[in-house]
Order: sequence, then structure tokens, then C-alpha cells
Amino acid sequence: MIDRQAKELRLQFCKCGQEHVFKFWEILSSDEQSKLIQQVKTIDMDYLSKIIDGALHNASRQKNIGPLAPAKFIKFPNSEVDWQKWKEAVAIGEQKIRDGKIAVFTVAGGEGTRMGCIVPKGTLQVTPIKKKSLFQVFAEKIKASERRYDVTINWIVMTSERTHNETIEFFGKNNSFGIENIHFLKQGQMPAITAEGKIIMETTSRIAMHPDGHGGSLKALGRSGLLAMLENLGIEILSYFQVDNPLVRCVDPYFVGVHVKNQAQVSSRMVRKLYAEEKVGVFCESNGRCRVIEYFDLPKEQAMLRNSEGSLVFCAGNTAIHLLDVPFIKRFNGKDIKSEIPYHIAQKTVPTIDSLGEPVSPKVPNGLKLEMFIFDILPFADRTTILESERGANFSPIKHLEGMDSLKTCHRDQVKLFASWLRAAGIDIPMDANGLPPFDIEISPTFADSKHDFLQKWENLEGKPTIAAGQYIE
Ligand code: UTP
Repeated sequence: MIDRQAKELRLQFCKCGQEHVFKFWEILSSDEQSKLIQQVKTIDMDYLSKIIDGALHNASRQKNIGPLAPAKFIKFPNSEVDWQKWKEAVAIGEQKIRDGKIAVFTVAGGEGTRMGCIVPKGTLQVTPIKKKSLFQVFAEKIKASERRYDVTINWIVMTSERTHNETIEFFGKNNSFGIENIHFLKQGQMPAITAEGKIIMETTSRIAMHPDGHGGSLKALGRSGLLAMLENLGIEILSYFQVDNPLVRCVDPYFVGVHVKNQAQVSSRMVRKLYAEEKVGVFCESNGRCRVIEYFDLPKEQAMLRNSEGSLVFCAGNTAIHLLDVPFIKRFNGKDIKSEIPYHIAQKTVPTIDSLGEPVSPKVPNGLKLEMFIFDILPFADRTTILESERGANFSPIKHLEGMDSLKTCHRDQVKLFASWLRAAGIDIPMDANGLPPFDIEISPTFADSKHDFLQKWENLEGKPTIAAGQYIE
């Protein structure tokens, strides 16, 4: 049986120039042979060949998108009229949430290579005082919304082969932090390839695989049946964010309201870039479509371009916080090739074998990974909305161990944000030139998860605590 299957698969791989996957077949044990077959069976080689071909010619596609203009965006409210509009949008958003039309979607399948993560990133302890994990922070935010709007909210957590078991175990140990409707979704994988498009073997009987990128979430939702479940439940909008950003508002009435009011299919939160070289994708327009251009693809002259007031023209930095219409994302699960988001390639250091099958641990990138990015959904949408966020209010991702976008900067941004809420409530808190108090404080999402909520809750709070070092408000 295994021989017949192996023969057929071998032929198929051979046809696509990937016969080396079976190079050591004859000397593998029967257990190794069956494991290799199990893995090979999950790969649609004809499809993969097309993907490899497309991805290796990605550079020319990038050039074909036409001249770039900065994307239009809705600015952070700055006048009476703006705040009136804000109120109207919040009311619309709150109604949608109350009506049970929103589900939350966290992508947590990444490898966390820049941090050298050995555990799923969502389990990292990130809050300043209570050291809550990222997953706990999101769970508390979702629970708070459930209470506030008297609704049950579905939460989908996307994992990958590498993060799945540990993530489920973590939630299990913590009773899912009280969230009843939680769904785990394992994303797809792709083989690592060489610059020539050859599949890389990790061992003589195993292909080197990696997660297929956060854009893989679209297909994973369809494949798992969760998309159908969402439809059956009448859920209209997915509130999408990545696991590394504890400042995100998981359920954001203003964002939802603007999305609904504009009848957008995709909406995204942006922050203004701090400086021209900041390593963040930028929302742009080309050929009448909104899209994110990665920082390394944005021509330098455009990245540096400033208007007459001295501000960056291409300033709309991508926070990876999106609202996705459920009917819209359905189209990425059909057979229509025109609704396929592209694969990007990135260099990767892949443990592999030499020509004799001996293990090799390269010190420099020796392969490419193929990944889909969620923001590539934008050009498919006829209606998009880009909404500005205050820097530091919604976005402080944890990407590195040290320096920019690290645990340390995220800790700082949380303390700074909580202090700014307290100051807005009239509490005198010392601060340095950057708005940072000289001590740690923490406000639990169970108390408030935005300045607006905080001010309301604080006003009605009896026996207000005196704010001092180490203060935790819940
Ligand atoms: P990043 O691109 O920052 O990747 O992912 P990462 O894995 O966290 O870190 P590096 O690049 O390896 O250092 C942004 C978000 O998308 C998720 C991550 O978990 C993170 O929430 N993601 C990324 C996935 O869910 N799957 C993927 O295949 C890639």
C-alpha cells in the first residue's frame, strides 16, 4: 500500500522538479517512510509549484502596481465636529457589538524568531505589575466587553503547528480565563525552499516546514469550518489583531462604528510614522486600490517626502489591527484564483542535511519561507477605511528582546498610557519629558480599556485610591 502511494507521490514530485525529497527513500526505515508519506500527502505539489513560481517572480509584480499615492485616512478627532462624529460612530459600533455581530480574531501562530521565543508569544508576561500574559490581557478585555454590552463574544485564536499544543495547554490551565466561546484554529504550513525553488529537507525523511503567514488565516478559517460557524451565528465582522500587541482594543466600538458607517469590507488602524526610516508598512493607494507597502518596498524618495508643514507624506503606518467583513473574507476560500492573496518570500535559516544526509545547521540564511500577509486582502476590497490611532494608545508591539518594539518599550508604553488616563482624570502624577512616571502603575482591562471608559469609571468610583508606586487598579 505504502509502496503504491509512494510511487504515485514520487512521480508527482518528480514531475515538478522535486524528486530529491525521496532521495534517501530506499534507506529509510518503514516508520520513517510512512512519516514522510504522511507529510508529503499534505502538499498539493501542482499548487505549490505555481506558488513557488509566483513568489520567486514577486519583485516584478511589486513593480506592476503603478504609481503610489498616500492612502486617505480618518484623522484622530481634533475638533468639536470630529468629536460629534466620534460619538455617532461609537453609538453605531456599540449597537453592532450589543447585537452580537462581532467576533474577535487573534493570530498567534508566528515563530517569534526575532525574540528567540521558545514558548508561544501569547504566554509571555507583559503587564507592568501583575505580569499578566498577553492572552490574559486579551481575555480580560473581551470579558469586559461581554459585560458592558451584555453579549457573548466568540474569540478565535489562530495557532500553528509549533504553538498549538502549548497554547491549548496554557488556556486549559487557566480555565480559558473565563471565556466561554473560544475556538483554536491551526494555520497551514508551507515547505521552506531554496532560491532555486527546491524544497528543503530538514532530515532525510522530513521536509522543513514553517507556518504560512498571518494571511494564511483566511484559508484556515474556511478549512476549519469556523467561517461557516461565524456565518451561522450571524457574525458580520471579525476584529483581527496580532498576539504581540497588548494595547489593542479587542472590541473597539469607535472602529466598528466607522467601519459600519462607511460600509467598508476591510478597515485598518494606522499610526503616524515617527520618522522616515521607521520599519513599518505604509498604507498607500495605487490603481485606485488601498494597499500596504512594506517599508523595504517603499522607494526612499517617497519614504522621505514631506509636505509644506514638514510632515511625512507617506505617514500611515500599519498597526496590523483590522476589521474584516465575514462575507468578504469568504471569497478567499473559493476556487477563484483571482481571489488568492500572493505569497511573499523572506530569507530564513533552515536546519537541513548535506548530500550524504548528514545534519547541517547553517549560521546564515540558506532558504526562503513562503508567507501570505493579511494586509494583502486590502486591494481586493472595493471599500476600505483607514482610521488613525494615537501613538501609544492602541499599538506597542513586542518583536525584539531589546531595543525598539521590545518587552521594555511595551512596558513603558503601558505605564505611560495608564498615567495619561489618570492625569486626564485630574490626578497629579509626576512625569519625565516623555510623559513617563517615575514608578510603575497598572490599570486592569476589567476596570477600563480606553481613556473614555476610564474617565467614566473613575468618576463613579467610591473610595478612590491614592496613586503611588505599584498601584494596580481593577
Ligand atoms: P510577525 O511577522 O511579527 O512574526 O507576526 P512573529 O512570528 O511574531 O515574529 P518573527 O518575525 O518570527 O520574529 C505578526 C503576527 O502574526 C502572527 C504572529 O503570531 C504575530 O501575532 N503570525 C505570523 C501568525 O499567526 N502566523 C504566521 O505564520 C506568522
